[in-house]
Amino acid sequence: MTIPALVVRALALAEARGFRHSSCLEAGLLLHALASTVTGGRIGEIGTGCGVGTAWMVSALQPNVGCVTIDSDPQLVAAVRDVFAISRRFRCCTVTGASLWPTGHSSSSLQTAATRKRHTPTRCLGSSP
Ligand SMILES: C[S@@+](CC[C@H](N)C(=O)[O-])C[C@H]1O[C@@H](n2cnc3c(N)ncnc32)[C@H](O)[C@@H]1O
Repeated sequence: MTIPALVVRALALAEARGFRHSSCLEAGLLLHALASTVTGGRIGEIGTGCGVGTAWMVSALQPNVGCVTIDSDPQLVAAVRDVFAISRRFRCCTVTGASLWPTGHSSSSLQTAATRKRHTPTRCLGSSP
């Protein structure tokens, strides 16, 4: 499989920032496969990092599916928004996972944000279905 262009851009961002915590290739392929099976709504991710895992998922989205990812680091969020500027079905927000899951979850992919509709993250940009 060819690595999607969005993933290449996210990997370049991680390299430029010296960010060493991105999803590995195998995890990315798994995220890609799982995301491709989602037929509606939004995929939520906690812990955007440089957007590598996000890019694998967004690259696999079916037409009416969106993706929302959050990270507590506003600088990462700003950088990732630039990477994903070409994707209209993507949102990246500065918010902490702890405020969504008060019991203290920190970072895990493919969590569903849909169960937390009461929470309105600040500083969200972009649009999604
Ligand atoms: C392992 S990296 C994420 C890697 C990314 N998911 C990927 O697939 O490449 C973890 C990220 O979680 C963020 N993070 C840590 N605690 C958080 C929290 N409580 N809420 C939101 N983001 C958090 C960190 O800033 C960091 O960018």
